[in-house]
Amino acid sequence: MNLLIMGGPGAGKGTMSEKILEKYEILHISTGDIFRAEMAQQTELGLLAKSYIDKGLLVPDDVTNPMVKSFLEKSDHSKGYLLDGYPRTLDQALAFQELVAGTDLEIDKVLFMDIPFEVLAQRVTGRRICKECKAIYHITNHPSKVDGVCDVCGGQLIQRKDDTVESLNVRVSEYQKLTQPVLDYYAKFGKVKKINADQSIDDVWADVQKALED
Ligand code: AP5
Ligand code: MG
Repeated sequence: MNLLIMGGPGAGKGTMSEKILEKYEILHISTGDIFRAEMAQQTELGLLAKSYIDKGLLVPDDVTNPMVKSFLEKSDHSKGYLLDGYPRTLDQALAFQELVAGTDLEIDKVLFMDIPFEVLAQRVTGRRICKECKAIYHITNHPSKVDGVCDVCGGQLIQRKDDTVESLNVRVSEYQKLTQPVLDYYAKFGKVKKINADQSIDDVWADVQKALED
């Protein structure tokens, strides 16, 4: 099963990805996570990505497309994959389509996490992630059992640098300008399943499972 999960910043893509991966054991391809890992290691790619990400801007396509290609080539995708946060420009969608055309790596379903933009500020400013295993929490919506400590691995919970209202506003406008056309592109192929992402995490997950079994 080859999936793409789409939606605005803070819509819940990462939260649903954790659950999908646990259930289906497919390969996670999160460009945001790959960039953050490179940033933490201060690689050349990481430093370049940081100059965009901290401002809320998208990293250029000529950096992102080859990175995804090489990640896919070196990873085990025999059970399928879940793309999270890529493609998010029309150019990325076309580059990915060219990469997988005629293979068993074509995208089967697109989950679109539909949510009003007004809800997103509360979500991203309250988000905490585990420094070690990257598990996602929220200080009120989905708190860890012990404040500041990851339930899964005991790692320290930190805030993402781009989780400010200023950066969120730029990310939302990038999303509207560059990513919404990607949704229209996949809709033409009849692949999009719309999910109401403005519900509790459990209710969103129930709807995601229905969409995947459909
Ligand atoms: P990326 O990491 O992809 O960030 P994003 O798209 O802004 O999305 P987020 O990760 O912020 O949100 P999410 O939808 O995963 O929400 P989450 O589940 O965490 O990209 C970051 C940056 O990297 C980009 O801005 C760009 O610069 C660069 N980049 C990445 N990919 C790129 C690409 N393809 N091209 C170019 N540049 C790229 O949930 C958010 C919070 O809400 C959490 O605290 C969670 O606990 C909580 N929550 C989740 N669901 C619910 C719910 N149902 N109810 C209540 N709370 C909830
Ligand atoms: Mg995410």
